[in-house]
Amino acid sequence: MTTSLIEKDEIQLVYISERCISTDDAAINKIKLRAEPNNYRRNITGALLFTERYFLQYLEGEAAVVDALYASICRDKRHTNARVLLRAPIKQRDFSRWSLGVKKLLDNQENQDLIAVLNMIGQASKVTESQLDWFKLALK
Ligand SMILES: Cc1cc2nc3c(=O)[nH]c(=O)nc-3n(C[C@H](O)[C@H](O)[C@H](O)COP(=O)(O)O)c2cc1C
Repeated sequence: MTTSLIEKDEIQLVYISERCISTDDAAINKIKLRAEPNNYRRNITGALLFTERYFLQYLEGEAAVVDALYASICRDKRHTNARVLLRAPIKQRDFSRWSLGVKKLLDNQENQDLIAVLNMIGQASKVTESQLDWFKLALK
């Protein structure tokens, strides 16, 4: 993963939300197929991590554009209870190469710790910087 220099005031927004039961993996693939060209057009980059229960998404781009996209994502019926964990100005993007990277965090031995942390974040609606760094690594 590389980073790129920022031309305008840009932010990174991270939120967590809960999958609706009807949102199966095929539905998430549909979201990805639609989101990728949309994000490319809007010069938004990011990544979407998901488990059986949660979505955790990073969105990066011009503040007003990211805020507008997040508002539209919040209205989406395929998930619920979206909460912003971080909204901060950035000098460099973490996901500059991806319009939308999507990764499923499988519920296996290897991912137990990450899943436990995600469940904690989901309940507390709070995240620490080091937890976010950990998720970034998992997404790379
Ligand atoms: C968890 C989740 C993440 C999403 N991420 C994006 C995204 O990064 N970009 C995007 O355009 N739409 C995303 N969507 C879909 C939007 O909510 C909305 O359906 C879409 O932007 C509408 O696109 P359209 O105007 O091309 O129909 C996401 C939806 C969900 C449930």
